[in-house]
Order: sequence, then structure tokens, then C-alpha cells
Amino acid sequence: MSVAPRVGEGKITVPGILSRKNSSSASSQPKTKITCLTAYDFPTARLLDRSGVDILLVGDSVGMVVLGYDSTLPVTIDEMLHHTRAVHRGTQRALVVADMPYGSFHVSIEESVRNAVRLVKEGGAEAVKIEGGERRIELIARLVEAEIPVMGHVGLTPQSIHALGGFHVQGKTAEAARQLERDARAVQSAGAFAVVLESVPRDLAARITEKLHIPTIGIGAGPDCDGQVLVLHDLLGLTQGHKPKFARQYVDLSGEISRAVAGYCADVQSGSFPADAESFHSTAELRDYLRAPALVKQRS
Ligand code: KIV
Repeated sequence: MSVAPRVGEGKITVPGILSRKNSSSASSQPKTKITCLTAYDFPTARLLDRSGVDILLVGDSVGMVVLGYDSTLPVTIDEMLHHTRAVHRGTQRALVVADMPYGSFHVSIEESVRNAVRLVKEGGAEAVKIEGGERRIELIARLVEAEIPVMGHVGLTPQSIHALGGFHVQGKTAEAARQLERDARAVQSAGAFAVVLESVPRDLAARITEKLHIPTIGIGAGPDCDGQVLVLHDLLGLTQGHKPKFARQYVDLSGEISRAVAGYCADVQSGSFPADAESFHSTAELRDYLRAPALVKQRS
């Protein structure tokens, strides 16, 4: 399956995202912050795209949010392709970035490039996101060489959940902060066009943002990043269980959906749904047929 690139007025592109980097020089005007949300399916992608979100991230969070896995680790490249295609079909303006899932870039550089190429060629992704800092320098450089724009992701990287020992804020000690700065710089020098900073103290995220010349996209990294990303289901009140401190909920869709479904069940059970106005009506011919006495079954 091949995919056609989206071009046209207002299309968000990788150079466009790079140009939204806020510079600390006194003469430069502050740039509009970059908005990024996760999207996993066609109707949601269409809504977010039309609402003006800059980047639609087909995150491997799809595993936990939509597929019901306990972590992001089981997500496969085929699952990512399936969801990336759907998001691509619903998107005209936003930049579509697909996560490379755990295992798809850990075996060899060749296999990793092959998997990233699939996300672009078969899925319609315009860039891929890769978790990890210094360790990913070679891979990021190879992907960029293969014309695949890369978004880095440092700080809390959910694919390293076992190594990190849980979902904790990263970079809290001086040593950890130094490593995080090295990671962010490494991702930049390897050629990434942006980097996600996840669960990082706000002052450290602000310092990294100031030091880098590529945009930082924060999630739980405070207000000074060049952009922000959230898992859409957190914003819509659709996630169950623990809600991270940084996830601002704008609407209670779980409540809305439960109320709507309870209303539907009650209406079906009381017989008030469907009403006459929601039914199809007979033609004159059908009415005559229905009024005529039923045919007696013919003997053979
Ligand atoms: O998978 C995802 O949704 C992510 C974002 C939370 C940055 O990586």
C-alpha cells in the first residue's frame, strides 16, 4: 500500500516546526507554541486536524489507551502501521508523527531503518519518534540520512519502564540532570528536528529548551518548552485509573458517554426508541400487500 503526501496551504511541515523554535535573543519575537496531541484513529485525527493541532502523534500509548495493554511494550510495528494509516487518512494539515514501538529499533540499525521506512511508506507518517538519548545517535543519524525526520524523546521514556523502575520524574539529581542534558543534545546533534521532554522538573526543561536550537515539546515538563503534548484521552476524560499530575482534563467524556449509553438502554427497554420519526414508512404497494390475507403455503 502506498500513501500520497499531503501538500497545500497551511500544511505543517518539519521545517515549519523547526522555525517555531523560540530564540533567547532579545530582538526575536516569541513564536507561537507548538501544539501536539496523540491520535490513533480516522475520526479523531480528522477532528484534531480541523481544530488546528500542529502535530498528531500516533503514540505507542495506543497500547495502553486503546488496546488495553498494561504497558507500551507489547505494541508491534504492525499495530503502529494500522493506526498510523487511519490517522494519515484523517489528516490534511497537521504533521503526522508515528512512534517506533519497543523492539522495532533495538535489534539492528538495518532492521530499525526498515521499520521506520514502513511507517513512512505504508503508514503515511511524515516523521518518526524514537525514545532514548545518547544511545540513539547512530540510529537517528541513519534515519535522517534515509530522509526520515526524527523526533527525539528523553526524560521519562515509557519503553524503559523496567530499567527506570516505574513512571517517575526524571533528572532530579545534578548527575541525572547532566545526563538528561547530554541526551537532549545528542538527539539534536544526530539530526532530530524536535525532542519530547517527558516528566522533567520545569527549571531543567527550561534550561534544556534555552540551550537547544531545535524545539522542545513538553509533557510534564512545565510551561517553558517550545510546545506541549498530551495524550488526547487524558484531556477528554476518557482514561481510567491514575491520571498524571500534568494531564489537564478539559471535559468529562467518560461521564457524557455513560449518560448517553444509559439513556439509549432505557429508551430501548421502555419502547420509546425508535420513535415513528426514526422509522421507515411503507409505500402504498407495500401497505396493500401487508393488508392482503397471508398466502396459504403451497403443497409441492
Ligand atoms: O506514546 C505517546 O503517547 C507519547 C507521548 C506521551 C509523548 O510518547
